[in-house]
Amino acid sequence: MKVTVVGAGAVGASCAEYIAIRNFAAEVVLLDIKEGFAEGKAMDLMQTASLLKFDTKITGVTNDYSQTANSDVCVITSGIPRKPGMTREELIGINAGIVKMVSSSLLEHSPNTIIIVVSNPMDTMAYLVHKTTGIAKNRIIGMGGALDSARFKYRLAEATNAPISDIDGMVLGGHSDKGMIPLTRLATRNSVPVSEFLSNERLEQVAADTKVGGATLTGLLGTSAWYAPGAAVSSMVHAIATDAQKMFPCSVMLQGEYDLNDISIGVPVILGKNGIERIVEINLSDVEKAKMQESAAAVMKTNKLLEI
Ligand code: LAC
Repeated sequence: MKVTVVGAGAVGASCAEYIAIRNFAAEVVLLDIKEGFAEGKAMDLMQTASLLKFDTKITGVTNDYSQTANSDVCVITSGIPRKPGMTREELIGINAGIVKMVSSSLLEHSPNTIIIVVSNPMDTMAYLVHKTTGIAKNRIIGMGGALDSARFKYRLAEATNAPISDIDGMVLGGHSDKGMIPLTRLATRNSVPVSEFLSNERLEQVAADTKVGGATLTGLLGTSAWYAPGAAVSSMVHAIATDAQKMFPCSVMLQGEYDLNDISIGVPVILGKNGIERIVEINLSDVEKAKMQESAAAVMKTNKLLEI
């Protein structure tokens, strides 16, 4: 498998690193517009290969899309990250132009590629790729839910004082501080509902901490996070590469599912060799359904700012 990662900043480099470390891809091309930057990151990463024992070949290129030709999966991380105090939505003006240009350049050289969108505001950027490229909806996947769910599990493990491998849980809805819906009702510790271990109040705190997971890190780091976003992307690419048929919450184009239409937002999907193999419709409670509609309304409001 050949994977291209556009943007060699912290998130893009972390995607390339975790994909390579898992040793399932033959090649990762890292592309950036800053002269020599992707080449440097690729070289540094390749010098970890003998130590970490992976054979994935990582190549860095400066804005040369011909080198990305015939990629099976392309990951778009380019654009500006948020600074402390900023919402993901505030990035739309700059990032929309970049994501539009990047996705059309990628498709010129890899017409059959699956595209994973990471750039923020992610749900709106995924929607933009749908609207401007017109490619099949199974081939455009927004990365948000996998990351937000990992943050949810981290918070649940912390609250229950359990090892993370005991914890399961998902976050649906928009990848935004207000729009995320951590499904506390369905979260478990080794198949036991977490409500058996935590008070309602503590669970609400876990959900609140999960929703501002990205903002908390931006406040601490001065820019947005990269390790968990990179790991989330690598898990999704791995599921596609191995045709794993694994379930992740991802931002995908909905056509009636969850009573939503013409919107890309986080719902559970099955990932395999075709990208999105299918959308999984789970029974949400009335409260969760209302939260989903509210989250969708906010994403649609941001989508309206796009000039398409
Ligand atoms: C975050 C960015 C990647 O949540 O959206 O850290």
